[in-house]
Amino acid sequence: MAGHPAPSMTWALTRMEKAKDVKDEEKFYKFEGVIYSSIMSPAENLEALRTMEARADDVMLVAYPKCGFNWMVAVLRKMMAAASGKKETPAMHALIEFYSPDAQKMLVVWRNPKDTLVSYFHFMNKNPVLPNVEWDKFFSEFMSGEVAWGSYFDHAVAWDKLMDDPNIKIITYENLKQDLSEGIRQISQFFGFPLTEEQVQTIYSETTFSAMKESGSHGKLGSAFFRKGEVGDWRNHFSEAQSQQMDEEFNKRLAGTKLGALLQYDTYCK
Ligand code: A3P
Repeated sequence: MAGHPAPSMTWALTRMEKAKDVKDEEKFYKFEGVIYSSIMSPAENLEALRTMEARADDVMLVAYPKCGFNWMVAVLRKMMAAASGKKETPAMHALIEFYSPDAQKMLVVWRNPKDTLVSYFHFMNKNPVLPNVEWDKFFSEFMSGEVAWGSYFDHAVAWDKLMDDPNIKIITYENLKQDLSEGIRQISQFFGFPLTEEQVQTIYSETTFSAMKESGSHGKLGSAFFRKGEVGDWRNHFSEAQSQQMDEEFNKRLAGTKLGALLQYDTYCK
């Protein structure tokens, strides 16, 4: 995400405006079997990724939708500014499928599937570029992987195989919620951004949920990107049967895996 000309907030708002003229049924399309937003990630962007070349100092952040991407963007941006002594750029981050290249070391943020589903459901209904959805239908689509950017479980199974790769650091939303300062220290160590404890604390105070929500960084889109910021909101949405269905799917796909263990499913989803 770093290093490339970052899109401005105006750019994002222009696309949000454009979305008003697009019917819900036209907001998605499929690229090689995976659903994408036709407004944000048209096929030509994805085609361009085939010839993408990474640069040595690129920093890459990976997340399934609604696992904490924007949170980590803020942390990384502040970290890079603190470590380099340069001013933080106010622009929006460059999402790879919205734009272009990157690679080298990757930070990957994961979140338990029940809260991810809830967050995704609300985001669909709050973000004008995405179609509106109804809870039971969206639940089924999430479970079968028929949602934009693909299946949570397919992503998780693929990332589980890279858990021991020294160029990849996998963190969880829940651990960050529990101890954000420690998360910041670990991320800065992984990328080799030397930070003083004072800098860690400054970044911490600027990237708590309330600080980010109040910062106005996402303009009019603030309420879509900063909704509740909590662990366990799934309890207010899932029926007993839905909860069981998710437990079964987790058992089938991720039980016994390293990523499955990192997600602490029994603690956060039962
Ligand atoms: P909720 O919908 O549960 O509130 P992403 O950025 O990957 O789309 O993830 C969005 C989720 O991260 C939303 O979850 C959002 O509120 C939450 N989030 C954003 N900034 C956060 C922060 N500083 N602390 C905790 N959660 C945050």
